[in-house]
Order: sequence, then C-alpha cells, then structure tokens
Amino acid sequence: MSKVLLLALLGAAAVLGASAESLSAGGRRSLLQRSGAFPDPEFPFCRCDARMRASPYRLKVDSNITYGGQSWLCFKVTVNLASATLCNVTGPTRPKCCDEDMAKIEFNIDAQCVKDTNNALLFYGVNTTILGKTYSPVVTVISGDVDKDDSSKAVLRISSSELKMPQAVASEMTKRIGGVPVCFNVRRNRQCATLQDYFKNPQAYAQYAIFNSDKKCCPTGVTGSTNIPPGPVTQSPPPPLVPVAQKPPSPPSPAPPAVSPPPPPPRAPGGPFPYCNCDTRSGSSNPWRATIANKTMVTTSGRTGERVCLRLFIDADASRACNALPATAFKCCKTPLHKIELRADNTNCKSSVGPGQLTGHGKDVPVTWDSSTPVLKFTNLAIPIERAAAGPVFLCFQFKGPSCTRLTDMCTNGICRAAVFESASNTCCPPFDVK
Ligand SMILES: *[C@@H]1O[C@H](CO)[C@@H](O)[C@H](O)[C@H]1NC(C)=O
Ligand SMILES: *[C@@H]1O[C@H](CO)[C@@H](O)[C@H](O)[C@H]1NC(C)=O
Ligand SMILES: *[C@@H]1O[C@H](CO)[C@@H](O)[C@H](O)[C@H]1NC(C)=O
Ligand SMILES: *[C@@H]1O[C@H](CO)[C@@H](O)[C@H](O)[C@H]1NC(C)=O
Repeated sequence: MSKVLLLALLGAAAVLGASAESLSAGGRRSLLQRSGAFPDPEFPFCRCDARMRASPYRLKVDSNITYGGQSWLCFKVTVNLASATLCNVTGPTRPKCCDEDMAKIEFNIDAQCVKDTNNALLFYGVNTTILGKTYSPVVTVISGDVDKDDSSKAVLRISSSELKMPQAVASEMTKRIGGVPVCFNVRRNRQCATLQDYFKNPQAYAQYAIFNSDKKCCPTGVTGSTNIPPGPVTQSPPPPLVPVAQKPPSPPSPAPPAVSPPPPPPRAPGGPFPYCNCDTRSGSSNPWRATIANKTMVTTSGRTGERVCLRLFIDADASRACNALPATAFKCCKTPLHKIELRADNTNCKSSVGPGQLTGHGKDVPVTWDSSTPVLKFTNLAIPIERAAAGPVFLCFQFKGPSCTRLTDMCTNGICRAAVFESASNTCCPPFDVK
C-alpha cells in the first residue's frame, strides 16, 4: 500500500518532469491531471509553471525541533541553479521561472491534519543580514484549505510576507547555511504529529510547490525524509548556524508564541495540487457572472457565423454571500471584472472567433487563446462594479468559421464553462456555466 503511494508520488514527480517539453514557456501545469474528459472539474486550470527543471528552488526535509515551547517540522528551501537544467541558457529562451523570487510554499497534506498546525517558523537558527535586510527567527500564522473536490486532500500554505525574498537572498542563505529554514508547528495533543501523518505515507515523502510573487511559477516536487536527522529533543539551542551571535530560543512555556489566533475557516482551493494559482475558486468570492443574452447568425465580409452576446452582471446571491465572508477569507466582493475565460471543448475553434465588443462600455476587447490550453479569454475588461449596477453590460463576439460557426460548435450543448477574474493576481476566480 505504502509502496503504491510512494510509486504514485514518484510517478507523479516523474511525469511532471517529463511533461516539460510539451509545456510552452510559462505554460500551465495540467498535463498530468487534465487527461480526463470534459467537462473538467479542475477548470480554470492552473496558470503556473510547475517544472522543476525551469526553476532553481527545491525543498528538502531538514529536522524536527522545539522552539518557543512548540514542536516544529522543518524544511530548507535551497537554490540550486545547476539542478534547473532548463536554466542553462541565457536570452529569450531562458524560462522566466529561472530568475524569480520566492513568495509562498504549499504542501499537499492529509486533510485530517489541516487544523493540527497553525504557525510557521521562518529562519530558525538564522541571525544575519543579507542584501541589507536582517533575517532572524519569526513565527507567523498559517492555515490550510481542504480541497472542495476531494475532502481527503488539503493544501497547507506558508505565504507569510516575511517569507517573500529575492532569489539572491535565498541563494545566499543556501550558501551560508544550506537553505532557507522553514518549519510548521505540530500542535499539542492533535492527531497529526509527524511528517508521516501529515503526508500520509511511512516514508514521509512530501509533495510541495514553491511559488513566486506573481504565482506564475510553482516548481512542484517531492522531498523525502528517510534520512531525517534526529532533531534536538530538548529545548537546548541548536548550534549557531551563522557566524553571528545566536540568541538561544526563548525558554519553553506552555503558551505558544505570540501569534496563535484560531485558523480562518477552510477555503476551497479546488483543482489539482498545487491547485489553481487562484487563491480561491469559491463562488461567493467574486459575484461577477455571465449569461447568454442572445445569439444571432450574421454575415460579415462574406463570412457567416453566430454573434453571441453575453450579459455580464453581478449575481445578487453571490454578492450577499461574499459580503458575509469573514475578514480573513479571500474575497473580491467589490472588484472590477478584469477577465472572463470560456473553456473551448472543441480546440478547433481557435481561429474561428473574432474580437469581442463591450457594449455600453464602448470598447473592443481582443480575443486571446491561451497558448497551452483551449481557453478563450477576454482580458483587461476593467468594468467597475458600479458600472454593472448602472445597467446591463454586454460582451459580444462573433464566430466566423471555418471550423466553428456557432457556440454549440465550441462548447458542449452550447453551455460554456467559464470563470471570472478580479485582476491579474487571480485572487478570486470562481468557475460557473454560461447558459
Ligand atoms: C542545457 O541542458 C539541457 C538539459 O540538460 C541540455 O539538453 C542542453 O544541451 C543544455 N544546453 C546548453 C546550452 O548547455
Ligand atoms: C523527531 O525526531 C525524533 C528523532 O529522530 C523522532 O523520534 C520523532 O518521532 C520526530 N518527531 C516528529 C514530530 O517527527
Ligand atoms: C543577532 O546578532 C546581533 C549582532 O550580531 C545581536 O545583537 C542580536 O542580539 C542577535 N539577535 C538574535 C535574535 O540572536
Ligand atoms: C443582442 O444583445 C445585444 C446587447 O444587448 C444587442 O445590442 C443586440 O441588438 C442584440 N441582438 C439581437 C439580434 O437582439
């Protein structure tokens, strides 16, 4: 059983690596998981480059420690450009992810463990200044999300602002102390205490993804702990790792360190690990929706095809639900509509769709097709939410053939899976059906 899981994990890692050639630069991660049929519950697909070979960031299991009266499971993020084999070139073919910063780490954990950790400890054992910034141990609040499509899976995120650093800093820390120390705590008397528990396999192979600030890079790998060094079992301070004074960790106390509010309610990540780079796909996170207003056959410049008008509107129920979300939730209740994507079930429609027009907003919006997935996108819409309240907004586009002349050619039964986006940050991107 464990062997099977391990093989599955390693197989997944191998496939992710092997898929590199078939992904264009900056391509979406998806090949592994998206082999299934349409409609695809994972839509909108992740927009991040998960290739290890296109990024120098790696994670390795480090040790387990105690600090500030808590137990911690620790890792180190290393920067190793030599292992990023696609980064051995300069110029335009160099993958963008070779030179990115670090902003977030995600772990693919067992959903049963999601409440058993609530703090991250960064820079344990570090007290040093790199590129003008001083790094020393810091404890921050973290939380995990149970996957809404598979309640046994969860993602634990460390996205604390303190973690965000230029690659040069991570690189320097790798040189000096073998990596950027990152730990998560193990709350007392909880079900999950070991890496084996968290990652649900006896070898404690952990699947992780390391994101850059714009979330376009998410090198995803598996790290093992079979050779996990025995961590200090008492509160004795670790040997100084850097050649500067090392203050021993604060003495043990029953109270956890400074920050420990209850974790925010789980948010649904959706999609395959590391899930979408959207922070949330929850329908209540973003109230913008679209519906088909009308479809008419028209002939322009001798080409006949359907002109489709979508009505873009604010869904009142979603809006209410959004406003009722807790302050800690990812939500985009009042943001403009930045982008709408329609999934093309028929990839042959690619050159059959003309540009779109936003009526009542007075501008043409170009149609773009995603470079690696059959998705039709209308970007940079910038429709303020107040505009939707002032009256209907329509987005019209026209099929002009030759492959596709009607909406039913592109989307099964003429119902397109769609998603709305609040900005280029992809914070809230709920999917829904356009009917
Ligand atoms: C870069 O690495 C790849 C993969 O290892 C190899 O195929 C390629 O020849 C290398 N290119 C250069 C310029 O070294
Ligand atoms: C920490 O390491 C010790 C020594 O290897 C081991 O006995 C213990 O189970 C580990 N604890 C966790 C939480 O992994
Ligand atoms: C870090 O080092 C500086 C001087 O090198 C020292 O003054 C400071 O107390 C140290 N801080 C910690 C947390 O060890
Ligand atoms: C379809 O809807 C748009 C937007 O309201 C409108 O401008 C257009 O006249 C409609 N077309 C037809 C054929 O009704």
